[in-house]
Order: sequence, then structure tokens, then C-alpha cells
Amino acid sequence: MSEETSARVFRGLFVTGTDTGVGKTVVTAALAAALRAEGQQIGVWKPVQTGTALGAGVTDAERLLQSTGIMERPEDVAAFTFPEPLTPMLAAKRAGVCLTLDGLMAAGQTIMNRYDALIVEGAGGVAVPLTDDAMMVDLMAELLMPALIVAKSGLGTINHTLLTVAMLRHRAIPIAGIVMNDGEQAVWKTDPSVAWNAELIERFSGVKVLGRFPSLPRSSHTHMEILIQTVRETIDLSPVRQALAVQNRGGC
Ligand SMILES: Nc1ncnc2c1ncn2[C@@H]1O[C@H](COP(=O)(O)OP(=O)(O)OP(=O)(O)O)[C@@H](O)[C@H]1O
Ligand SMILES: [Mg+2]
Repeated sequence: MSEETSARVFRGLFVTGTDTGVGKTVVTAALAAALRAEGQQIGVWKPVQTGTALGAGVTDAERLLQSTGIMERPEDVAAFTFPEPLTPMLAAKRAGVCLTLDGLMAAGQTIMNRYDALIVEGAGGVAVPLTDDAMMVDLMAELLMPALIVAKSGLGTINHTLLTVAMLRHRAIPIAGIVMNDGEQAVWKTDPSVAWNAELIERFSGVKVLGRFPSLPRSSHTHMEILIQTVRETIDLSPVRQALAVQNRGGC
């Protein structure tokens, strides 16, 4: 770790996923909204996002702000936005930008300074190339934040979730828990694996599943009050609160 990086202090939770499109943005927004409703000074940060330009309200940063009521400029919440739907390292390169961990950390520190803790949304999963020689998991390790894994509720999730847990453990990143997400479909209606997936993930990983986020109607998955209510009804927030209270383990 460089001297400049080592002086930085982050506190929060890093929401990663087993894949792109598993519901990280919906769960990140819902958790942030629920914790803010308890009076916690929580901000959101999306270190890098790809696939759409800022402005139309559809990037993750804009969705996070809309769903939580946080008053920030999207470009402050996501300083690195690249339009091509590619892994961050490639999308940045093709936009003429060379991403570095130090540059990402510096952007994060600016937003961190305004809050007690951040809920950070990764891009894709842990093994996504971010810079020429670093993956998302390397940024997570630099931040020294506990991770929360968003996993889909249905078939295939055991393998993807256990692989994600293994990679985080390999880098000694603490895991606050796993949130299963039903996504856009009421998957449990057609997929019998949903009844067993959480239990098997807990048994084979030793990590607690904090709950299963239900499928919400399209009109309501950016609706703050509905997200808060859904978290209260379905997610055990205690490990998340504990993770946010943990003082950064190192860094200086
Ligand atoms: N529980 C849910 N109920 C209804 N729709 C959902 C739910 N979870 C996710 N979705 C929808 O599924 C799509 C993918 O979810 P989301 O954007 O949160 O995934 P992601 O993991 O953040 O993706 P990315 O890797 O692009 O950041 C979005 O259209 C989102 O609104
Ligand atoms: Mg997202």
C-alpha cells in the first residue's frame, strides 16, 4: 500500500455481487435508505460504472440517489462513468482514461469525508478487471471494508456465491453476510431450488444469509419508502449495523 493511500480512512460496507444484474443497486439503495431512516449519516458511492452516460437518470449512481433521497451530484457519487457496456478497465481505456486504484480511492475519500459511513456498490463481481493489474477485489482489500454479497435466489446461485466467498476469504476481506435477491421475477414460483439455496449456502460457506429480498413491482423498486419497508420485513440488519460500526482495521 502506498504512503498516500495508507493515510486514507474509509468506513462502511462494500456491496458486491455474484454477477452483474443480480440486484446490487436495488439492495444497496434499500440498505442505505433503511439505515438513513434510523438516523445514520450514510452516503453511497459507486467507484466506477459502465454502460450508460450520466444524465438520463438510469445510471446506478443516479438510481442510488433517487432511491435514497441523498442530495449529491451523480458525478460526485460516481466520478468514473464510462458509456460502453464493458468491464471497467476496458470501458475506461476506450474512453481514454487509465483507471488506477489510487485515483479511485481519492474520489471515494472526497465523498467519504461528508458522511459517517458509506455503502459502496461494486461493478459486476469480485473478479472484474478494474485497472491494468487490479480487480474489484483489490479495491475492496484497499478500502478495508467488510463485504456484503448480493446473490440471486434461484438455480446456479450456490456455485457463484461459494466462489465469491472463497475469493473474499483468500484476500482476508470480512463478510458481513449474504442477501439473496429474487430480482425482477417471482422466481420462487417456478424454481424449486429457491427453497434450499440459502440454507445450503450457509452450510457450505459458514456465512450468514441475512434475508431474501422479494421481487418488487417495476413501479416501486426505486421508491424509498417501499425499499425501507421491504428491508425491515426481510433483512436482518444487525450484522450490517455492526459492520458499519467497525473502525477501519488499518490504513495508518
Ligand atoms: N428485488 C427486485 N425487484 C424488482 N426488480 C429488481 C429487483 N432486484 C433487481 N431488480 C431489477 O433487475 C435489474 C438488475 O438489478 P440491479 O441493477 O440492481 O443489478 P446490479 O447487480 O446492480 O447490476 P450492475 O452489475 O449493472 O450494477 C434492474 O432493472 C432492477 O431494477
Ligand atoms: Mg448496479
